[in-house]
Amino acid sequence: MESPIGVFDSGYGGLTILKEIQRYLPLYDYLYLGDNARAPYGTRSFDIVYRFTLQAVNELFSRGCRLVILACNTASAKALRTIQQNDLPLIDPSRRVLGVIRPTVEALGDLSRTGHVGLFATPGTVRSDSYRLEVEKLFPAMSLTSHACPMWVPLVENNEGNNPGADYFVNKDADCLISADPDIDTVILGCTHYPILYPKIRRALPEHVSLVSQGDIVARSLVDYLHRHPEMESRLSRSSSTAYLTTERADSFSRMASMFLGRPVEASQISLS
Ligand code: DGL
Repeated sequence: MESPIGVFDSGYGGLTILKEIQRYLPLYDYLYLGDNARAPYGTRSFDIVYRFTLQAVNELFSRGCRLVILACNTASAKALRTIQQNDLPLIDPSRRVLGVIRPTVEALGDLSRTGHVGLFATPGTVRSDSYRLEVEKLFPAMSLTSHACPMWVPLVENNEGNNPGADYFVNKDADCLISADPDIDTVILGCTHYPILYPKIRRALPEHVSLVSQGDIVARSLVDYLHRHPEMESRLSRSSSTAYLTTERADSFSRMASMFLGRPVEASQISLS
């Protein structure tokens, strides 16, 4: 694997993005990195998320990635801009780091009829205001109501997402969001872990509300990016292989990731510094 596409998340959530990207772009090589040892990121400060994300990006660069997708809203909200503007020019201006928030907001215009949109995200993403700022820029007439769900990522990271205990938190958060704005007709899952809870979230929301995961949106936007950037596309290696790195135990990662992806995964443990 010479020049894989790097996919980074704090833990397992980015697998929901990787899965969709590979559905659209199966020929490229991929290197997934989950910082499971330090997840969740969603309750951490700006500086810590930036520092951890930069370490991960440098690790992926050192393993041959020329293009890294931050498949994590919290890292996209808190670290992407600084890495793009301050770090990349010094590390290697020909490499690229892309996030998930901008493409998600771009897609919103076609999704909502009432112009009232809800967002579920981590406390860090909500506090960063990144979604609100992007929505104001692209769709000034749209009303966005954000709701932070601090328990959802820990439930997924601890493999409790499918258990009945998770219903309590999902129902509580869904009720809060809809009672804050009953005109909401579209809800975005603004955390890459949340699609793993999709069936529970779907059941907790009124039927007329559309529930949107980011995987498909981010994958299409990467297809478009590679069309527009042949200088990057031509440097990516293509042997349809995928490798997985985690900062926690490789056996736990391999078991959980095999379950999410529905195919066998063999991860390796690394440390980031
Ligand atoms: N999956 C990540 C996101 O999209 C981060 C979750 C976390 O570590 O809190 O925000």
